[in-house]
Amino acid sequence: MQTSTRSELLLKRSLAAIWHPCTQMKQHESLPLVPVARAEGCWLHDFDGRRYLDAVSSWWVNLFGHCNPRINAAIADQLGTLEHVLLAGFSHEPAVALSERLARATGGRLGHCFYASDGASAVEIALKMSFHYWRNMGRPRKTRFVSLAGSYHGETLGALAVTDVRLFKDTYAPLLISSDQVVSPDWRLAERGESPRDYAGRCAQALERHLEQYHDVIAALIVEPLVQGATGMAMHDAEYLRMARAACDRYQVHLIADEIMTGFGRTGTFFAHEQAGITPDFLLLSKGITGGYLPLSVVMTRDAVYQAFYDDDVARGFLHSHSYTGNALACRAATATLDIFEQDRVIEVNRATSARLTSAASVIAQHPRVKHFRSIGMIWAFEVETADPQFSQRFFASALERELLLRPLGNTVYFMPPYVIGGDEIELLVQRCAALLDALPAA
Ligand SMILES: Cc1ncc(COP(=O)(O)O)c(C=O)c1O
Repeated sequence: MQTSTRSELLLKRSLAAIWHPCTQMKQHESLPLVPVARAEGCWLHDFDGRRYLDAVSSWWVNLFGHCNPRINAAIADQLGTLEHVLLAGFSHEPAVALSERLARATGGRLGHCFYASDGASAVEIALKMSFHYWRNMGRPRKTRFVSLAGSYHGETLGALAVTDVRLFKDTYAPLLISSDQVVSPDWRLAERGESPRDYAGRCAQALERHLEQYHDVIAALIVEPLVQGATGMAMHDAEYLRMARAACDRYQVHLIADEIMTGFGRTGTFFAHEQAGITPDFLLLSKGITGGYLPLSVVMTRDAVYQAFYDDDVARGFLHSHSYTGNALACRAATATLDIFEQDRVIEVNRATSARLTSAASVIAQHPRVKHFRSIGMIWAFEVETADPQFSQRFFASALERELLLRPLGNTVYFMPPYVIGGDEIELLVQRCAALLDALPAA
């Protein structure tokens, strides 16, 4: 079969059989789906010889490139031994090894791992666990959750309840438990002349006032440390996390660090919260945990939380489960990912990659259509001055024509490439993105 015919047929079948995620399907009448035949390193390839640089790491999950030989080999090896077994009442080496290694990565402070499959299910677990902890401790009135303005924690009902992105939330509002939002420390909102750190301090004081007033009924504060991703890569100073940790301690409120996007080196340290020198009560990880291969998420917590559930009474236990909890193939992909971190000194090497991309991107930072160019670790973002309400879709489509996979969030364009992006790929990404900006119609 001719390759283009194969491509067309696949897209036709896809539109007939698949309800694609986060999509108004009617838009595909004018914006074609992109067929992917195979992928390698930072590149996605279609059936017709076209290729796309995956500058968003396939929704922020890929760390070491597509079809990574080392992760492939680990999964293939695991396939021959044990693919999956229930984790209730049973255990296996990949889940145990992964839990031990993750606990070590937190300096042993978060020694208990509870597994699920996607980011949103980890959020659900943390919210339930926090509430249940307080209930077990004789504080059943602690039922409310606090999150930051603009926060994103996923799309299931509990996760959406603490999310604050109107497009995703408004329709389902009648179904959601209510939660409180405090002002975001996003440094773009600082007053003129106010430093990101001073602004973070001012926002933390607002949080403190909120907790002071309502702590009796608040179970937890949930935060995306350092970068609020889906709202538009809003970045904040680590001071906010330090002060939030202190306020949570003062008012006996849990701190949930949602590192589903920021974990595994994305912000330049292995976990983002390390940059504030704090330990959360719950740490949520997913996305990069398997190097972008398989769905896996984990809620890590402290011994004090674990002990509050440990009892002769079954109902005081955490009776939550998902069928694929602790899937052996996913856990093995995750330990292979951790091996790469250690063997390749990834955090150190990323520092050089990050500096190189930042330097190459000066052409974008100085572009007349660009505002608020910012970066941390392996994330870069900027706003484009445009009056076009369809900007994000149009930019996405034009980027594809230049072999780039970029998915702007509104008028925020960001790069979140796999860590293995090479020098030539950095140049290609930056130069072609600059050309896209040059080609924009007048604002
Ligand atoms: C910070 C954060 N939390 C939670 C989620 C939800 O994860 P998932 O899409 O795997 O359910 C995301 C997804 O982008 C996220 O960025």
